[in-house]
Amino acid sequence: MEKDTCQKMMNLVAVVALGWTLSACGEAKPPAPPPPAPPEYADKHMPDGYWNNPEIIEQGKAIFTGVENIDVNCASCHGKDGKPVKAGARDFRKGDFMKLFSDSQWFWRVSEGVKGTKMKAWKSKLSEDERWKVIAYESTFGLKGQEYSVAEQKWVPAGTAKTAEEVAAERNKAAEGAAAPVAEEAAAPANGEAAAPNGEAAGGESPR
Ligand code: HEC
Repeated sequence: MEKDTCQKMMNLVAVVALGWTLSACGEAKPPAPPPPAPPEYADKHMPDGYWNNPEIIEQGKAIFTGVENIDVNCASCHGKDGKPVKAGARDFRKGDFMKLFSDSQWFWRVSEGVKGTKMKAWKSKLSEDERWKVIAYESTFGLKGQEYSVAEQKWVPAGTAKTAEEVAAERNKAAEGAAAPVAEEAAAPANGEAAAPNGEAAGGESPR
C-alpha cells in the first residue's frame, strides 16, 4: 500500500519535471500569438486603400528608415530590409509569426511599445496616419501582397478582403442551409471561417 503511494508520487514528480523541461525548451513550441489589443485600440484599422499602395509604402519607408524624422528610426533596430540589427528586435520577415498580429495589434504595439523591451511607444512622435503608413511598409517584409481582413479576422491576398456585409451574408446563407438552431450563431465572429465554405458552395459569388 505504502509502496503504491510512493510509486504514484514518483509518477507525479516525473510529470511535473517533464512539464518544466518542456516549458524551459521554449524554442520547440510554436510562437504564442500576441495578447489581444486593449479596448482603445481594438477598433483601430488600416485606412482603406493603404495596404500594398506604392505611394503609402514609400512614405512608410521614409518614416521607418528615419529619413522623415531622424528621431524615429525603426530600421536602427529592425533593419532596413526587415532583418533585425539589434538583438531581440522583431523579425518582420517571418510572415508566419507576423500573421498572428491583426492590424489593431500592430497599431497598438507601435503606439504603446512593448514593456520590458527596447520597443518604445511611438505615439508621441508619430501621428496615427504616420503609424499606419509605417505599418503598411513593415508588412511588405514578410506579408507582401497580403492585407489584413478585419471582417474575416485573418490575412488574405491583397484586394480579396471581404466586407462585413459579405461575411454576414455568407453566414446567413450558411445558416439558412443548416438546421434552425444554427441561426443564432451568426452573431459570433469566430464562426466566420467555418461558415464561409458553406456560403461559397451555396452561392459561389464571393470574390476570392
Ligand atoms: C531600440 C530598438 C527598436 C526601435 C528603434 C524600434 N523597435 Fe520595434 N521592436 C523592438 C524590439 C526589441 C521588439 C520586440 C519586442 C518583444 O519582445 O515583443 C520590437 C517589436 C516590434 C513590433 C512587434 C510587436 C511585438 O509585440 O513584438 C512591431 C510591430 C515593431 N516593433 C514596430 C516598430 C516600428 C514601426 C518602429 C519605428 C517607429 C520600431 N519598431 C522601432 C525594438 C525596436
